[in-house]
Amino acid sequence: MAEPVDPQRVLVRLFSYAKPHWPMMALGVLGMALFASVDTGIAFLVRTFLDGTFVERDPRMVAWIPLAIVGLFVVRGTGDYLANFGPGHVGRAVIKALRADVFRHLLVLPVSYYDRHPPAELLARLTYNVELVSEATTTATTALIKDTLTIAGLLGYLFWSNWQLTAAALAIAPVIAFLVRTANRLFRRYSMRIQSSVADVTRVAREAIDGQRLIKVFTAEAHEERLFEIANERNRHNHMRLIAVRAISNPVVQFIAAIGLGLILFFALRSVFRDHMSVGGFTSFLAALVMLMSPLRRLVGIAAPLQQGITAGHSVFEVLDEAAEDEGGPRRLARARGELAFEHVDFGYVGGPGPVLSDVSFTTGSGRTIAIVGRSGSGKSTLVSMIPRFYDPTAGRILLDGFDLREYRRVDLRRQIAMVSQDVLLVDDTLRNNIAFGAPDASLDAIERAARAAHVLEFADELPQGLDTPVGDRGALLSGGQRQRVAIARALLKDAPVLVLDEATAALDSESERVIQGALAELRHGRTTLVIAHRLSTIETADLILVMQDGAIVERGTHAELLARGGIYAGLHRLQFNA
Ligand SMILES: Nc1ncnc2c1ncn2[C@@H]1O[C@H](COP(=O)(O)OP(=O)(O)OP(=O)(O)O)[C@@H](O)[C@H]1O
Ligand SMILES: [Mg+2]
Repeated sequence: MAEPVDPQRVLVRLFSYAKPHWPMMALGVLGMALFASVDTGIAFLVRTFLDGTFVERDPRMVAWIPLAIVGLFVVRGTGDYLANFGPGHVGRAVIKALRADVFRHLLVLPVSYYDRHPPAELLARLTYNVELVSEATTTATTALIKDTLTIAGLLGYLFWSNWQLTAAALAIAPVIAFLVRTANRLFRRYSMRIQSSVADVTRVAREAIDGQRLIKVFTAEAHEERLFEIANERNRHNHMRLIAVRAISNPVVQFIAAIGLGLILFFALRSVFRDHMSVGGFTSFLAALVMLMSPLRRLVGIAAPLQQGITAGHSVFEVLDEAAEDEGGPRRLARARGELAFEHVDFGYVGGPGPVLSDVSFTTGSGRTIAIVGRSGSGKSTLVSMIPRFYDPTAGRILLDGFDLREYRRVDLRRQIAMVSQDVLLVDDTLRNNIAFGAPDASLDAIERAARAAHVLEFADELPQGLDTPVGDRGALLSGGQRQRVAIARALLKDAPVLVLDEATAALDSESERVIQGALAELRHGRTTLVIAHRLSTIETADLILVMQDGAIVERGTHAELLARGGIYAGLHRLQFNA
Protein backbone atom coordinates (compact mmCIF):
# COMPACT_ATOMS: atom_id res chain seq x y z
CA MET A 1 0.00 0.00 0.00
CA ALA A 2 2.82 2.35 -0.76
CA GLU A 3 1.18 4.21 -3.60
CA PRO A 4 -1.49 6.74 -2.57
CA VAL A 5 -5.05 5.90 -3.50
CA ASP A 6 -6.36 7.77 -6.50
CA PRO A 7 -10.14 7.42 -6.17
CA GLN A 8 -10.88 8.62 -9.65
CA ARG A 9 -8.50 6.21 -11.32
CA VAL A 10 -9.87 3.30 -9.30
CA LEU A 11 -13.44 4.15 -10.24
CA VAL A 12 -12.63 4.60 -13.92
CA ARG A 13 -10.93 1.24 -13.94
CA LEU A 14 -13.79 -0.42 -12.15
CA PHE A 15 -16.17 1.14 -14.58
CA SER A 16 -14.28 -0.45 -17.45
CA TYR A 17 -15.22 -3.81 -15.92
CA ALA A 18 -18.88 -2.80 -15.77
CA LYS A 19 -18.95 -1.37 -19.29
CA PRO A 20 -19.71 -4.60 -21.18
CA HIS A 21 -22.87 -4.86 -19.10
CA TRP A 22 -24.19 -1.48 -20.13
CA PRO A 23 -27.70 -2.69 -21.10
CA MET A 24 -28.25 -3.93 -17.57
CA MET A 25 -26.82 -0.72 -16.20
CA ALA A 26 -29.12 1.31 -18.43
CA LEU A 27 -32.07 -0.70 -17.18
CA GLY A 28 -30.98 -0.01 -13.63
CA VAL A 29 -30.66 3.71 -14.27
CA LEU A 30 -34.08 3.69 -15.91
CA GLY A 31 -35.45 2.09 -12.76
CA MET A 32 -33.78 4.73 -10.63
CA ALA A 33 -35.20 7.49 -12.80
CA LEU A 34 -38.68 6.01 -12.43
CA PHE A 35 -38.20 5.78 -8.72
CA ALA A 36 -37.00 9.37 -8.48
CA SER A 37 -39.75 10.80 -10.64
CA VAL A 38 -42.37 9.26 -8.37
CA ASP A 39 -41.07 11.20 -5.38
CA THR A 40 -41.39 14.42 -7.32
CA GLY A 41 -44.82 13.24 -8.43
CA ILE A 42 -45.88 12.79 -4.81
CA ALA A 43 -44.86 16.34 -3.92
CA PHE A 44 -46.85 17.59 -6.88
CA LEU A 45 -49.79 15.42 -5.86
CA VAL A 46 -49.86 16.93 -2.39
CA ARG A 47 -50.41 20.36 -3.90
CA THR A 48 -53.09 19.19 -6.33
CA PHE A 49 -54.82 17.26 -3.58
CA LEU A 50 -54.88 20.05 -1.00
CA ASP A 51 -55.76 22.85 -3.38
CA GLY A 52 -58.26 20.72 -5.32
CA THR A 53 -60.03 19.36 -2.25
CA PHE A 54 -60.00 22.16 0.26
CA VAL A 55 -59.71 25.24 -1.90
CA GLU A 56 -61.47 24.44 -5.16
CA ARG A 57 -63.64 21.66 -3.67
CA ASP A 58 -63.42 19.65 -6.88
CA PRO A 59 -65.48 16.39 -6.49
CA ARG A 60 -63.34 14.53 -9.05
CA MET A 61 -60.56 14.47 -6.48
CA VAL A 62 -62.31 11.69 -4.56
CA ALA A 63 -61.52 9.07 -7.23
CA TRP A 64 -58.56 10.77 -8.84
CA ILE A 65 -56.20 11.05 -5.89
CA PRO A 66 -56.41 7.42 -4.60
CA LEU A 67 -55.96 6.10 -8.14
CA ALA A 68 -53.00 8.36 -8.72
CA ILE A 69 -51.41 7.10 -5.50
CA VAL A 70 -51.80 3.46 -6.47
CA GLY A 71 -50.52 4.21 -9.97
CA LEU A 72 -47.51 6.06 -8.65
CA PHE A 73 -46.58 3.17 -6.39
CA VAL A 74 -46.82 0.67 -9.23
CA VAL A 75 -44.30 2.80 -11.11
CA ARG A 76 -42.20 3.20 -7.98
CA GLY A 77 -42.18 -0.56 -7.36
CA THR A 78 -41.14 -1.29 -10.92
CA GLY A 79 -38.43 1.30 -10.64
CA ASP A 80 -37.27 -0.13 -7.34
CA TYR A 81 -37.04 -3.63 -8.80
CA LEU A 82 -35.01 -2.52 -11.80
CA ALA A 83 -32.84 -0.27 -9.66
CA ASN A 84 -31.89 -3.26 -7.51
CA PHE A 85 -31.71 -6.02 -10.08
CA GLY A 86 -29.72 -4.18 -12.74
CA PRO A 87 -26.84 -3.04 -10.57
CA GLY A 88 -26.88 -6.35 -8.67
CA HIS A 89 -26.41 -8.20 -11.93
CA VAL A 90 -23.60 -5.90 -13.03
CA GLY A 91 -21.95 -6.04 -9.60
CA ARG A 92 -21.77 -9.82 -9.51
CA ALA A 93 -20.48 -9.95 -13.08
CA VAL A 94 -17.76 -7.46 -12.18
CA ILE A 95 -16.78 -9.47 -9.08
CA LYS A 96 -16.44 -12.58 -11.18
CA ALA A 97 -14.43 -10.91 -13.92
CA LEU A 98 -12.19 -9.08 -11.49
CA ARG A 99 -11.56 -12.20 -9.45
CA ALA A 100 -10.73 -14.17 -12.59
CA ASP A 101 -8.27 -11.48 -13.64
CA VAL A 102 -6.59 -11.40 -10.26
CA PHE A 103 -6.33 -15.18 -10.16
CA ARG A 104 -4.96 -15.38 -13.68
CA HIS A 105 -2.45 -12.73 -12.80
CA LEU A 106 -1.41 -14.50 -9.61
CA LEU A 107 -0.51 -17.50 -11.76
CA VAL A 108 1.97 -15.51 -13.83
CA LEU A 109 3.58 -13.39 -11.12
CA PRO A 110 7.25 -14.15 -10.55
CA VAL A 111 8.40 -16.28 -7.62
CA SER A 112 10.03 -13.20 -6.08
CA TYR A 113 6.60 -11.55 -5.75
CA TYR A 114 5.49 -14.41 -3.52
CA ASP A 115 8.62 -13.99 -1.43
CA ARG A 116 7.46 -10.47 -0.62
CA HIS A 117 3.72 -11.04 -0.17
CA PRO A 118 2.40 -13.50 2.40
CA PRO A 119 -0.32 -15.86 1.16
CA ALA A 120 -2.92 -14.51 3.59
CA GLU A 121 -2.59 -11.05 2.14
CA LEU A 122 -3.06 -12.30 -1.41
CA LEU A 123 -5.98 -14.49 -0.38
CA ALA A 124 -7.64 -11.55 1.37
CA ARG A 125 -7.34 -9.47 -1.77
CA LEU A 126 -8.72 -12.20 -3.98
CA THR A 127 -11.70 -12.95 -1.76
CA TYR A 128 -12.58 -10.14 0.65
CA ASN A 129 -11.35 -7.10 -1.24
CA VAL A 130 -12.73 -8.10 -4.62
CA GLU A 131 -16.11 -8.68 -3.02
CA LEU A 132 -15.92 -5.42 -1.13
CA VAL A 133 -14.98 -3.31 -4.10
CA SER A 134 -17.87 -4.42 -6.26
CA GLU A 135 -20.43 -4.66 -3.49
CA ALA A 136 -19.59 -1.24 -2.18
CA THR A 137 -19.39 0.49 -5.48
CA THR A 138 -22.59 -1.08 -6.78
CA THR A 139 -24.52 -0.15 -3.68
CA ALA A 140 -22.97 3.27 -3.65
CA THR A 141 -23.49 3.98 -7.33
CA THR A 142 -27.08 2.82 -7.11
CA ALA A 143 -27.73 5.11 -4.18
CA LEU A 144 -25.77 7.88 -5.80
CA ILE A 145 -27.74 7.84 -9.05
CA LYS A 146 -31.08 7.14 -7.43
CA ASP A 147 -30.74 9.80 -4.76
CA THR A 148 -29.17 12.36 -7.04
CA LEU A 149 -32.04 11.92 -9.46
CA THR A 150 -34.57 12.17 -6.65
CA ILE A 151 -32.88 15.28 -5.33
CA ALA A 152 -32.71 16.78 -8.80
CA GLY A 153 -36.39 16.07 -9.37
CA LEU A 154 -37.43 17.55 -6.05
CA LEU A 155 -35.17 20.57 -6.49
CA GLY A 156 -36.62 21.14 -9.93
CA TYR A 157 -40.07 21.05 -8.46
CA LEU A 158 -39.05 23.42 -5.68
CA PHE A 159 -37.56 25.92 -8.11
CA TRP A 160 -40.64 25.68 -10.23
CA SER A 161 -42.95 26.34 -7.33
CA ASN A 162 -40.88 29.05 -5.59
CA TRP A 163 -37.39 29.82 -6.77
CA GLN A 164 -36.53 32.45 -4.19
CA LEU A 165 -37.19 30.07 -1.35
CA THR A 166 -35.23 27.32 -3.01
CA ALA A 167 -32.26 29.56 -3.54
CA ALA A 168 -32.28 30.31 0.17
CA ALA A 169 -32.37 26.61 0.94
CA LEU A 170 -29.44 25.94 -1.34
CA ALA A 171 -27.26 28.40 0.50
CA ILE A 172 -26.36 25.68 2.98
CA ALA A 173 -25.23 23.27 0.26
CA PRO A 174 -21.53 24.28 0.33
CA VAL A 175 -21.38 23.66 4.07
CA ILE A 176 -22.73 20.17 3.61
CA ALA A 177 -20.36 19.51 0.73
CA PHE A 178 -17.40 20.48 2.88
CA LEU A 179 -18.50 18.14 5.66
CA VAL A 180 -18.98 15.30 3.24
CA ARG A 181 -15.51 15.77 1.79
CA THR A 182 -13.91 15.70 5.20
CA ALA A 183 -15.84 12.59 6.16
CA ASN A 184 -14.78 10.94 2.89
CA ARG A 185 -11.13 11.43 3.64
CA LEU A 186 -11.50 9.89 7.06
CA PHE A 187 -13.52 6.99 5.71
CA ARG A 188 -10.81 6.24 3.19
CA ARG A 189 -8.10 6.29 5.81
CA TYR A 190 -9.89 3.90 8.16
CA SER A 191 -11.00 1.60 5.36
CA MET A 192 -7.43 1.12 4.34
CA ARG A 193 -6.44 0.24 7.88
CA ILE A 194 -9.38 -2.10 8.21
CA GLN A 195 -8.40 -3.99 5.10
CA SER A 196 -4.84 -4.49 6.15
CA SER A 197 -6.03 -5.62 9.57
CA VAL A 198 -8.33 -8.17 7.94
CA ALA A 199 -5.28 -9.60 6.20
CA ASP A 200 -3.54 -9.78 9.57
CA VAL A 201 -6.43 -11.62 11.16
CA THR A 202 -6.44 -14.08 8.27
CA ARG A 203 -2.71 -14.58 8.42
CA VAL A 204 -2.59 -15.34 12.13
CA ALA A 205 -5.62 -17.60 11.90
CA ARG A 206 -4.16 -19.43 8.95
CA GLU A 207 -0.89 -20.02 10.72
CA ALA A 208 -2.75 -21.34 13.74
CA ILE A 209 -4.91 -23.64 11.65
CA ASP A 210 -2.08 -24.90 9.47
CA GLY A 211 0.24 -25.25 12.40
CA GLN A 212 -2.12 -26.58 15.02
CA ARG A 213 0.04 -29.62 15.73
CA LEU A 214 3.08 -27.43 16.07
CA ILE A 215 1.22 -25.17 18.46
CA LYS A 216 0.03 -28.10 20.53
CA VAL A 217 3.39 -29.74 20.91
CA PHE A 218 5.14 -26.46 21.69
CA THR A 219 2.19 -25.43 23.89
CA ALA A 220 2.18 -22.11 22.10
CA GLU A 221 -1.56 -21.56 22.54
CA ALA A 222 -1.15 -18.51 24.74
CA HIS A 223 1.36 -16.96 22.36
CA GLU A 224 -0.89 -17.51 19.33
CA GLU A 225 -3.82 -16.14 21.26
CA ARG A 226 -1.87 -12.99 22.01
CA LEU A 227 -0.91 -12.58 18.35
CA PHE A 228 -4.50 -13.04 17.35
CA GLU A 229 -5.70 -10.62 19.99
CA ILE A 230 -3.42 -7.92 18.59
CA ALA A 231 -4.68 -8.37 15.03
CA ASN A 232 -8.26 -8.75 16.17
CA GLU A 233 -8.11 -5.65 18.33
CA ARG A 234 -6.53 -3.60 15.56
CA ASN A 235 -9.38 -4.65 13.31
CA ARG A 236 -11.98 -3.71 15.91
CA HIS A 237 -10.30 -0.42 16.69
CA ASN A 238 -10.23 0.70 13.06
CA HIS A 239 -13.79 -0.45 12.51
CA MET A 240 -14.85 1.57 15.53
CA ARG A 241 -13.20 4.68 14.15
CA LEU A 242 -15.07 4.21 10.91
CA ILE A 243 -18.29 3.68 12.80
CA ALA A 244 -17.65 6.79 14.87
CA VAL A 245 -17.07 8.96 11.82
CA ARG A 246 -20.14 7.51 10.18
CA ALA A 247 -22.24 7.95 13.30
CA ILE A 248 -21.26 11.57 13.79
CA SER A 249 -21.53 12.57 10.16
CA ASN A 250 -25.28 11.98 9.97
CA PRO A 251 -26.37 14.07 12.96
CA VAL A 252 -24.03 16.90 11.98
CA VAL A 253 -25.35 17.04 8.46
CA GLN A 254 -28.89 16.86 9.71
CA PHE A 255 -28.29 19.58 12.22
CA ILE A 256 -27.02 21.88 9.48
CA ALA A 257 -29.96 20.87 7.36
CA ALA A 258 -32.34 21.67 10.21
CA ILE A 259 -30.92 25.17 10.47
CA GLY A 260 -31.51 25.53 6.76
CA LEU A 261 -35.04 24.26 7.17
CA GLY A 262 -35.68 26.80 9.92
CA LEU A 263 -34.50 29.58 7.65
CA ILE A 264 -36.70 28.39 4.86
CA LEU A 265 -39.70 28.09 7.11
CA PHE A 266 -39.15 31.65 8.12
CA PHE A 267 -39.19 32.86 4.53
CA ALA A 268 -42.01 30.53 3.52
CA LEU A 269 -44.26 31.57 6.34
CA ARG A 270 -43.56 35.19 5.54
CA SER A 271 -44.53 34.60 1.95
CA VAL A 272 -47.78 32.94 3.05
CA PHE A 273 -48.75 36.21 4.67
CA ARG A 274 -47.29 38.54 2.07
CA ASP A 275 -47.84 36.78 -1.25
CA HIS A 276 -50.86 34.72 -0.33
CA MET A 277 -49.16 31.35 -1.00
CA SER A 278 -51.86 28.66 -1.19
CA VAL A 279 -52.25 25.86 1.40
CA GLY A 280 -51.36 23.30 -1.24
CA GLY A 281 -48.43 25.33 -2.46
CA PHE A 282 -47.05 25.80 1.03
CA THR A 283 -47.56 22.22 2.19
CA SER A 284 -46.19 20.64 -0.94
CA PHE A 285 -43.18 22.92 -0.80
CA LEU A 286 -42.50 21.76 2.72
CA ALA A 287 -43.23 18.14 1.80
CA ALA A 288 -40.71 18.33 -1.02
CA LEU A 289 -38.15 19.85 1.32
CA VAL A 290 -38.68 17.12 3.90
CA MET A 291 -38.56 14.48 1.20
CA LEU A 292 -35.23 15.93 0.18
CA MET A 293 -33.79 15.05 3.57
CA SER A 294 -33.72 11.31 3.32
CA PRO A 295 -31.94 10.98 -0.06
CA LEU A 296 -29.57 13.66 1.13
CA ARG A 297 -28.83 11.70 4.25
CA ARG A 298 -28.33 8.53 2.24
CA LEU A 299 -26.00 10.36 -0.07
CA VAL A 300 -23.81 11.28 2.86
CA GLY A 301 -24.11 7.74 4.19
CA ILE A 302 -22.79 6.08 1.04
CA ALA A 303 -19.46 7.80 1.44
CA ALA A 304 -18.22 5.17 3.88
CA PRO A 305 -18.91 2.07 1.76
CA LEU A 306 -17.79 3.92 -1.34
CA GLN A 307 -14.45 4.81 0.20
CA GLN A 308 -14.13 1.27 1.48
CA GLY A 309 -14.73 0.06 -2.04
CA ILE A 310 -12.20 2.44 -3.48
CA THR A 311 -9.42 1.41 -1.13
CA ALA A 312 -10.27 -2.24 -1.73
CA GLY A 313 -10.20 -1.58 -5.46
CA HIS A 314 -6.83 0.08 -5.14
CA SER A 315 -5.35 -2.95 -3.42
CA VAL A 316 -6.83 -5.28 -6.04
CA PHE A 317 -5.51 -3.22 -8.94
CA GLU A 318 -2.15 -3.12 -7.21
CA VAL A 319 -1.91 -6.87 -7.74
CA LEU A 320 -3.01 -6.54 -11.34
CA ASP A 321 -0.42 -3.83 -11.98
CA GLU A 322 2.42 -5.96 -10.68
CA ALA A 323 4.62 -6.97 -13.60
CA ALA A 324 4.08 -10.56 -14.67
CA GLU A 325 6.93 -12.84 -15.64
CA ASP A 326 7.96 -12.08 -19.18
CA GLU A 327 7.61 -14.70 -21.89
CA GLY A 328 11.36 -15.13 -22.02
CA GLY A 329 13.36 -14.88 -25.22
CA PRO A 330 12.29 -15.81 -28.72
CA ARG A 331 14.20 -19.07 -28.97
CA ARG A 332 12.06 -22.17 -29.25
CA LEU A 333 13.03 -25.50 -27.83
CA ALA A 334 11.24 -28.77 -28.48
CA ARG A 335 13.47 -31.12 -26.54
CA ALA A 336 16.79 -30.13 -25.07
CA ARG A 337 19.84 -32.38 -25.19
CA GLY A 338 20.42 -31.39 -21.61
CA GLU A 339 23.88 -29.82 -21.68
CA LEU A 340 23.82 -27.49 -18.75
CA ALA A 341 26.46 -24.92 -17.87
CA PHE A 342 26.73 -22.37 -15.07
CA GLU A 343 29.22 -19.61 -15.85
CA HIS A 344 30.34 -17.41 -12.95
CA VAL A 345 26.84 -17.19 -11.55
CA ASP A 346 26.20 -14.75 -8.71
CA PHE A 347 22.90 -14.39 -6.98
CA GLY A 348 21.31 -12.75 -3.94
CA TYR A 349 17.68 -12.55 -2.90
CA VAL A 350 16.04 -9.15 -3.10
CA GLY A 351 16.04 -7.80 0.43
CA GLY A 352 18.26 -10.66 1.56
CA PRO A 353 21.36 -9.99 3.64
CA GLY A 354 23.93 -10.69 0.95
CA PRO A 355 25.03 -12.95 -1.90
CA VAL A 356 23.67 -16.49 -1.73
CA LEU A 357 25.61 -17.78 -4.71
CA SER A 358 29.00 -16.48 -5.71
CA ASP A 359 30.94 -17.35 -8.83
CA VAL A 360 29.31 -20.72 -9.37
CA SER A 361 30.64 -22.44 -12.48
CA PHE A 362 30.27 -26.00 -13.72
CA THR A 363 29.29 -27.81 -16.88
CA THR A 364 27.70 -31.11 -17.55
CA GLY A 365 27.25 -33.16 -20.68
CA SER A 366 23.91 -34.46 -21.73
CA GLY A 367 22.69 -37.40 -19.67
CA ARG A 368 25.15 -36.83 -16.84
CA THR A 369 24.36 -36.80 -13.15
CA ILE A 370 25.64 -34.01 -10.97
CA ALA A 371 25.32 -34.20 -7.23
CA ILE A 372 25.35 -31.18 -4.98
CA VAL A 373 26.20 -31.57 -1.34
CA GLY A 374 26.84 -29.06 1.38
CA ARG A 375 25.62 -27.74 4.66
CA SER A 376 22.14 -26.51 5.20
CA GLY A 377 21.77 -22.97 3.88
CA SER A 378 24.79 -23.24 1.60
CA GLY A 379 22.65 -22.38 -1.43
CA LYS A 380 21.89 -25.76 -3.02
CA SER A 381 18.14 -25.23 -3.47
CA THR A 382 18.78 -21.70 -4.65
CA LEU A 383 21.17 -22.98 -7.28
CA VAL A 384 18.74 -25.46 -8.79
CA SER A 385 15.83 -23.00 -8.59
CA MET A 386 17.65 -20.91 -11.18
CA ILE A 387 17.38 -23.62 -13.82
CA PRO A 388 13.61 -23.14 -14.40
CA ARG A 389 14.29 -19.39 -14.00
CA PHE A 390 12.46 -18.94 -10.70
CA TYR A 391 15.27 -16.46 -10.23
CA ASP A 392 17.83 -15.06 -12.67
CA PRO A 393 21.53 -14.64 -11.89
CA THR A 394 22.59 -11.16 -10.84
CA ALA A 395 25.83 -11.79 -12.69
CA GLY A 396 27.10 -14.57 -14.94
CA ARG A 397 24.88 -16.80 -16.99
CA ILE A 398 23.38 -20.25 -17.22
CA LEU A 399 23.36 -22.09 -20.52
CA LEU A 400 21.24 -24.95 -21.75
CA ASP A 401 22.46 -26.61 -24.96
CA GLY A 402 24.78 -23.66 -25.46
CA PHE A 403 22.26 -20.83 -25.15
CA ASP A 404 21.52 -18.54 -22.25
CA LEU A 405 18.35 -19.63 -20.44
CA ARG A 406 17.00 -16.11 -20.94
CA GLU A 407 17.03 -16.64 -24.71
CA TYR A 408 14.45 -19.40 -24.57
CA ARG A 409 10.75 -18.96 -24.40
CA ARG A 410 9.92 -19.45 -20.76
CA VAL A 411 7.33 -22.18 -21.32
CA ASP A 412 9.67 -24.07 -23.63
CA LEU A 413 12.42 -23.91 -21.04
CA ARG A 414 10.19 -25.10 -18.22
CA ARG A 415 8.94 -27.99 -20.30
CA GLN A 416 12.51 -29.35 -20.27
CA ILE A 417 12.64 -29.63 -16.51
CA ALA A 418 11.12 -32.07 -14.07
CA MET A 419 11.60 -31.19 -10.46
CA VAL A 420 11.06 -32.93 -7.17
CA SER A 421 11.52 -30.19 -4.66
CA GLN A 422 12.27 -30.26 -0.98
CA ASP A 423 8.74 -29.52 0.09
CA VAL A 424 6.37 -31.62 -1.94
CA LEU A 425 3.15 -29.95 -2.88
CA LEU A 426 0.12 -32.10 -3.61
CA VAL A 427 -3.23 -30.72 -4.65
CA ASP A 428 -6.54 -31.74 -3.13
CA ASP A 429 -7.37 -34.36 -5.74
CA THR A 430 -6.85 -38.08 -6.38
CA LEU A 431 -3.47 -39.80 -6.47
CA ARG A 432 -3.89 -40.27 -10.19
CA ASN A 433 -4.55 -36.61 -10.89
CA ASN A 434 -1.68 -35.60 -8.68
CA ILE A 435 0.67 -37.77 -10.69
CA ALA A 436 -0.77 -36.37 -13.93
CA PHE A 437 -0.55 -32.80 -12.61
CA GLY A 438 -0.02 -30.47 -15.54
CA ALA A 439 -0.39 -33.37 -17.96
CA PRO A 440 -4.14 -33.99 -18.15
CA ASP A 441 -3.73 -35.88 -21.41
CA ALA A 442 -1.44 -38.54 -19.99
CA SER A 443 -2.61 -42.05 -20.77
CA LEU A 444 -3.78 -44.27 -17.93
CA ASP A 445 -1.04 -46.65 -18.87
CA ALA A 446 1.69 -44.03 -18.58
CA ILE A 447 0.36 -42.87 -15.22
CA GLU A 448 0.36 -46.41 -13.96
CA ARG A 449 3.89 -47.03 -15.15
CA ALA A 450 5.10 -43.91 -13.38
CA ALA A 451 3.19 -44.90 -10.26
CA ARG A 452 4.78 -48.34 -10.33
CA ALA A 453 8.32 -47.06 -10.85
CA ALA A 454 7.99 -44.58 -8.00
CA HIS A 455 6.47 -47.27 -5.78
CA VAL A 456 3.20 -45.41 -5.45
CA LEU A 457 1.27 -48.51 -6.45
CA GLU A 458 2.80 -50.28 -3.49
CA PHE A 459 0.60 -48.32 -1.09
CA ALA A 460 -2.13 -47.26 -3.55
CA ASP A 461 -3.09 -50.88 -4.08
CA GLU A 462 -3.91 -51.20 -0.41
CA LEU A 463 -6.28 -48.25 -0.55
CA PRO A 464 -9.94 -49.00 -1.27
CA GLN A 465 -10.05 -46.74 -4.34
CA GLY A 466 -6.48 -47.35 -5.50
CA LEU A 467 -5.09 -44.52 -7.59
CA ASP A 468 -8.45 -42.79 -7.41
CA THR A 469 -8.11 -42.17 -3.69
CA PRO A 470 -8.20 -38.49 -2.76
CA VAL A 471 -5.06 -37.28 -1.01
CA GLY A 472 -6.69 -34.52 1.05
CA ASP A 473 -5.73 -30.89 1.30
CA ARG A 474 -2.04 -30.69 0.36
CA GLY A 475 -1.82 -34.44 0.61
CA ALA A 476 -2.59 -34.42 4.33
CA LEU A 477 -3.93 -37.98 4.18
CA LEU A 478 -0.58 -39.39 3.06
CA SER A 479 2.64 -39.91 4.95
CA GLY A 480 5.68 -37.79 4.14
CA GLY A 481 7.34 -40.64 2.29
CA GLN A 482 4.18 -41.42 0.35
CA ARG A 483 3.92 -37.81 -0.72
CA GLN A 484 7.48 -37.91 -1.92
CA ARG A 485 6.80 -40.98 -3.98
CA VAL A 486 3.86 -39.24 -5.63
CA ALA A 487 6.13 -36.32 -6.46
CA ILE A 488 8.69 -38.68 -7.97
CA ALA A 489 5.99 -40.36 -10.05
CA ARG A 490 4.96 -36.93 -11.25
CA ALA A 491 8.50 -36.20 -12.37
CA LEU A 492 8.77 -39.60 -14.03
CA LEU A 493 5.61 -38.98 -16.00
CA LYS A 494 6.85 -35.63 -17.22
CA ASP A 495 9.75 -37.39 -18.94
CA ALA A 496 11.82 -34.21 -19.26
CA PRO A 497 15.48 -34.09 -20.38
CA VAL A 498 16.55 -32.25 -17.23
CA LEU A 499 15.71 -33.72 -13.87
CA VAL A 500 16.19 -31.94 -10.55
CA LEU A 501 15.93 -33.91 -7.35
CA ASP A 502 16.16 -31.74 -4.24
CA GLU A 503 16.26 -34.13 -1.30
CA ALA A 504 13.75 -36.18 -3.23
CA THR A 505 14.14 -39.27 -1.14
CA ALA A 506 14.94 -37.70 2.21
CA ALA A 507 11.58 -38.63 3.73
CA LEU A 508 11.88 -42.30 2.81
CA ASP A 509 13.10 -45.11 4.99
CA SER A 510 16.37 -46.72 3.90
CA GLU A 511 14.63 -49.72 2.44
CA SER A 512 12.23 -47.69 0.22
CA GLU A 513 14.99 -45.29 -0.62
CA ARG A 514 17.17 -48.08 -1.92
CA VAL A 515 14.34 -49.36 -4.09
CA ILE A 516 13.47 -45.92 -5.40
CA GLN A 517 17.11 -45.10 -6.00
CA GLY A 518 17.04 -48.08 -8.33
CA ALA A 519 14.09 -46.58 -10.17
CA LEU A 520 15.73 -43.18 -10.23
CA ALA A 521 18.98 -44.63 -11.58
CA GLU A 522 16.97 -45.97 -14.46
CA LEU A 523 15.23 -42.64 -14.85
CA ARG A 524 18.48 -40.72 -14.85
CA HIS A 525 19.55 -42.73 -17.84
CA GLY A 526 19.63 -40.36 -20.83
CA ARG A 527 18.78 -37.27 -18.77
CA THR A 528 20.80 -34.57 -17.18
CA THR A 529 20.16 -34.91 -13.50
CA LEU A 530 20.96 -32.65 -10.60
CA VAL A 531 20.69 -34.39 -7.27
CA ILE A 532 20.82 -32.67 -3.94
CA ALA A 533 21.33 -35.11 -1.13
CA HIS A 534 22.42 -35.14 2.43
CA ARG A 535 22.75 -38.91 2.47
CA LEU A 536 25.97 -39.39 0.60
CA SER A 537 25.37 -43.07 -0.09
CA THR A 538 22.78 -42.05 -2.69
CA ILE A 539 25.17 -40.03 -4.83
CA GLU A 540 28.29 -42.14 -4.97
CA THR A 541 27.67 -43.00 -8.59
CA ALA A 542 27.27 -39.37 -9.73
CA ASP A 543 29.50 -38.28 -12.60
CA LEU A 544 30.42 -35.12 -10.75
CA ILE A 545 29.98 -34.09 -7.15
CA LEU A 546 29.97 -30.40 -6.21
CA VAL A 547 30.58 -29.47 -2.60
CA MET A 548 29.07 -26.13 -1.66
CA GLN A 549 29.87 -23.85 1.19
CA ASP A 550 28.43 -20.37 1.71
CA GLY A 551 27.24 -20.16 -1.87
CA ALA A 552 30.49 -21.18 -3.50
CA ILE A 553 31.70 -24.47 -4.90
CA VAL A 554 34.65 -25.44 -2.75
CA GLU A 555 35.37 -28.96 -4.02
CA ARG A 556 34.48 -30.90 -7.14
CA GLY A 557 35.20 -34.35 -8.52
CA THR A 558 33.96 -37.90 -8.48
CA HIS A 559 33.32 -39.78 -5.29
CA ALA A 560 36.68 -41.54 -5.50
CA GLU A 561 38.56 -38.35 -6.32
CA LEU A 562 37.01 -36.45 -3.47
CA LEU A 563 37.67 -39.23 -1.00
CA ALA A 564 41.27 -39.41 -2.11
CA ARG A 565 41.59 -35.68 -1.67
CA GLY A 566 40.67 -35.92 1.98
CA GLY A 567 38.83 -32.56 2.12
CA ILE A 568 35.36 -31.53 3.25
CA TYR A 569 33.61 -34.27 1.32
CA ALA A 570 35.86 -36.94 2.74
CA GLY A 571 35.17 -35.57 6.19
CA LEU A 572 31.40 -35.65 5.68
CA HIS A 573 31.67 -39.15 4.34
CA ARG A 574 33.65 -40.38 7.28
CA LEU A 575 31.11 -38.83 9.64
CA GLN A 576 28.14 -40.54 7.99
CA PHE A 577 29.75 -43.93 7.69
CA ASN A 578 31.06 -44.13 11.17
CA ALA A 579 27.60 -43.33 12.53
N1 LIG B 1 12.94 -17.04 -0.87
C1 LIG B 1 14.02 -16.61 -0.20
N2 LIG B 1 14.15 -15.30 0.11
C2 LIG B 1 15.24 -14.86 0.79
N3 LIG B 1 16.24 -15.64 1.20
C3 LIG B 1 16.17 -16.96 0.94
C4 LIG B 1 15.05 -17.51 0.23
N4 LIG B 1 15.25 -18.84 0.10
C5 LIG B 1 16.43 -19.10 0.71
N5 LIG B 1 16.98 -17.98 1.21
C6 LIG B 1 18.31 -17.88 1.88
O1 LIG B 1 19.30 -18.30 0.98
C7 LIG B 1 20.26 -19.10 1.61
C8 LIG B 1 20.41 -20.43 0.86
O2 LIG B 1 19.22 -21.16 0.99
P1 LIG B 1 18.97 -22.53 0.23
O3 LIG B 1 17.54 -22.90 0.41
O4 LIG B 1 19.47 -22.43 -1.15
O5 LIG B 1 19.90 -23.49 1.06
P2 LIG B 1 20.09 -25.08 0.92
O6 LIG B 1 21.51 -25.32 0.66
O7 LIG B 1 19.10 -25.63 -0.03
O8 LIG B 1 19.75 -25.57 2.38
P3 LIG B 1 19.03 -26.94 2.86
O9 LIG B 1 20.05 -28.02 2.80
O10 LIG B 1 18.65 -26.65 4.27
O11 LIG B 1 17.86 -27.17 1.99
C9 LIG B 1 19.82 -19.25 3.05
O12 LIG B 1 20.61 -18.38 3.83
C10 LIG B 1 18.39 -18.81 3.06
O13 LIG B 1 18.12 -18.11 4.24
MG1 LIG C 1 17.43 -26.78 0.16
